[in-house]
Amino acid sequence: MSKQIQNIGIMTSGGDSPGMNAAIRAVVRTAVFYKMDPYGIYRGYQGLIEGDIERFTARKVSNIINRGGTILKTARSQEFRTVEGRKKAYEQLKKHHIDALVVIGGDGSFTGAQVFSEEFNFPVIGIPATIDNDIFGTDFSIGFDTASNTATEAIDKIRDTASSHDRLFFIEVMGRNAGFLALYSGIAGGAEEILIPEENIGIDKLVESLRRSKRAGKTSSIVVVAEGDKTGKNVFELAKYVDDNLKEYESRVVIVGHIQRGGSPTTFDRVLASRLGVKAVEVLLDGQKGLMVGYKNNKVEVTSLKDAINLKREINKELLYIVDILTT
Ligand code: F6P
Repeated sequence: MSKQIQNIGIMTSGGDSPGMNAAIRAVVRTAVFYKMDPYGIYRGYQGLIEGDIERFTARKVSNIINRGGTILKTARSQEFRTVEGRKKAYEQLKKHHIDALVVIGGDGSFTGAQVFSEEFNFPVIGIPATIDNDIFGTDFSIGFDTASNTATEAIDKIRDTASSHDRLFFIEVMGRNAGFLALYSGIAGGAEEILIPEENIGIDKLVESLRRSKRAGKTSSIVVVAEGDKTGKNVFELAKYVDDNLKEYESRVVIVGHIQRGGSPTTFDRVLASRLGVKAVEVLLDGQKGLMVGYKNNKVEVTSLKDAINLKREINKELLYIVDILTT
């Protein structure tokens, strides 16, 4: 391993996700293990532009592996989208003698990282962390497991009241552009239908399917709707449409919302974050850059940041297929 990098900057960026702290801890401790100096950059790219940077020690990240959110805080920076903003960011890195950057976040954060890294020939490595799980090059992103468990727990609770009252519930989970969270929590929660952005089943097929369920003897039902589903109606309009066209049901709407972003990370997310954090630093030490570390078939592997940004992570069709069978 060549070892030219001495000071590593670490930041979290974009929407937070449970397990980000475990990733910060892993990067900081791996840097210290390899005799480098880690620097925490607060509030993502905006904090970098403003020089909100602190030298970290291994002890600074004690007792955070179990905590949700991010001790580094996070932000979505408009200024970093401009060349002037990125120049300021570069000046701050030079001022603090930081010679490599680890960015923990989602595709928006990686796009910024990629542009910056090419513009200034600066070594950057990405660690995928988003509850949406929509990043190419990794089977799972940090936070998805915790968030899908939170959504499933919510569905379980709603199922109790749905079955007591013989009601139909529309439950909206997060996922502006991706249906992974809806699909996983929907299958785990035994949903009747799962509406995702990647596949538009059409509102009439939904009504038909609910009608069939009623005929098959079901007294209550749950429909899980991803925030970005493609029916063209929001979850309240969807419920009203079904109520108007299916008098047999009385429906209610629940939006699970930002509680999916919080909470103590699951064991899976903590282990994933730890593995990816160690690998990110080792990849930098190895002189590589412009990469994202990911998890594929139980191995830690790298993908170019370009591919991670530009290629689409496809929904597993087998999951959609089993939903149809299991709702019989
Ligand atoms: O973290 C990803 C995500 O949860 C999306 O699914 C959601 O649409 C978005 O973030 C909402 O984020 P915010 O409220 O922070 O803009």
